Amino acid sequence: MSIYLDHNSSAPLHPEVLEEMLPFLKSTHGNASSLHQRGRFLRSAIETARSRVAELVNCSPENIIFTSGGTEANNFALKGFLEMGQQSSLMSSQIEHASVLHPLQQVKQAGCATQLLPCTNDGKIDVEESLALIQQHSPDLLSLQLANNETGVIQPVEQLARFAHKSGVKIVHTDATQAVGKVKVDMQQLDVDMMTLSGHKFQGPQSVGALIVKSAGVKSPLLSGGFQESANRAGTESVANLAGLGKAAQLAAIKLQERHSYLLELRRYFEQQLAEITGVEIFGANSERLPNTSFFAIPYYHGETLLMQLDKAGFELASGSACHSEVTLPSHVLSAMGIDEDLALNAVRVSFGMDNTRQQVDQLIATLNDLINQLPAVMRQVAI
Ligand SMILES: Cc1ncc(COP(=O)(O)O)c(C=O)c1O
Repeated sequence: MSIYLDHNSSAPLHPEVLEEMLPFLKSTHGNASSLHQRGRFLRSAIETARSRVAELVNCSPENIIFTSGGTEANNFALKGFLEMGQQSSLMSSQIEHASVLHPLQQVKQAGCATQLLPCTNDGKIDVEESLALIQQHSPDLLSLQLANNETGVIQPVEQLARFAHKSGVKIVHTDATQAVGKVKVDMQQLDVDMMTLSGHKFQGPQSVGALIVKSAGVKSPLLSGGFQESANRAGTESVANLAGLGKAAQLAAIKLQERHSYLLELRRYFEQQLAEITGVEIFGANSERLPNTSFFAIPYYHGETLLMQLDKAGFELASGSACHSEVTLPSHVLSAMGIDEDLALNAVRVSFGMDNTRQQVDQLIATLNDLINQLPAVMRQVAI
């Protein structure tokens, strides 16, 4: 069995989450919108899930619109709350996930003004430049991620959201997909109007998440039809998935501190040894990061080659670059951080979970050293 080190892509379902889901999976009949007894039973399971999610992020249960995950929630946030056309303006950052950047492109094509805030070479949205741009343009909607999926860098959302509101920005949205369940996320404290979260990033099921809308009016739902989710998101609910999401949220709330300490200690242990590899660069290392994420590059080892060699040796990591047909492109996050393209193409990401151990870290480091030692000496010296 391989060692899974890719929890930011998707974390394994927690056994207690599976237990919570099983009764709904074994008996799939019934519709939560029905008025009979079974319908009411399913409805109450959904409302329990809603309360648990609300508790995790400190919002009102009524503010939660369940979705099919982070991608849908981000699309809804960007497309559902403004009039499309020249009268609307949106601002986001260069280092957002594709599920923010692509809808932003689409609203731009629909005539809206859009702008991307820059980031520093430490992987943090550039506060000084952002304050100036927010004040100057005062967009209708500002959407900023809470933690970056590649570097794990935690973003200054609270500071920028407070300033944005003072500067007349109507709606501030945060994509908290990677932060929820890994660090404390308090929607009131962040001073945001909307927030995205996704179940499978914190050991819940895949294809379920939420857009939380505290203070903004839906102009046009992404999905219309029935009256589910207060007519904001039509479609029969997957009760099993929602019950699983609720349970994952409850566990995350109870175990947040324990998980945080464990993962941070594990990452520190890994990075201490990683840093001994000549020339290695850990991206965003000087910034506050998610406790489980380490994004790094070895200057003479191509990222995808390293990834494949590690996969063969039994370690599952993520690549920092994106494959588009025949071409491999460097990560847009590293490009925004001003990282040299050659180095960016070598980037790989480890994202730990609670199932990982120090012993696995030792095995990974030993394998990395073996792979490096197998390279011709001349290659190892070239880039240093
Ligand atoms: C920051 C961020 N936002 C949004 C998403 C999309 O979430 P989902 O996989 O639930 O669609 C991801 C997934 O990796 C992510 O990392």
